[in-house]
Amino acid sequence: MTLGVLAPYRGLGIGTRLLNHVLDLCLKQNIQEIYLHVQTNNDDAINFYKKLGFEITETIKNYYTNIDPPDCFVLTKLITTHLKRTNNS
Ligand SMILES: CC(C)(COP(=O)(O)OP(=O)(O)OC[C@H]1O[C@@H](n2cnc3c(N)ncnc32)[C@H](O)[C@@H]1OP(=O)(O)O)[C@@H](O)C(=O)NCCC(=O)NCCS
Repeated sequence: MTLGVLAPYRGLGIGTRLLNHVLDLCLKQNIQEIYLHVQTNNDDAINFYKKLGFEITETIKNYYTNIDPPDCFVLTKLITTHLKRTNNS
């Protein structure tokens, strides 16, 4: 799956709503951990995912074959964290 919000609509909370919807689906299916790949220079996306509780757990060199830089971070989130945060909010 690819997550993206059209540029004029970024920073309005749409990405957060989209990702929280996916996290809710994972919770309902008893998925306990999810991970994703982000290009290492994509600071906006890295900040976005960190704000939603993801942590950088790995760096993979030469992950991408057609973009530069070719390296990615793996960001991981425990779904139980999402449950805790949702219940408290
Ligand atoms: C990453 C992306 C999906 C975020 O969607 P969004 O709708 O802009 O995100 P939100 O408005 O819900 O932002 C939530 C938080 O993420 C962080 N964030 C979002 N955009 C940011 C930016 N441009 N710079 C810094 N932080 C940013 C902020 O902490 C923000 O919280 P705040 O508004 O309270 O400061 C969007 O920027 C995007 O589509 N980027 C291009 C595609 C992409 O890189 N996808 C991810 C590939 S793995």
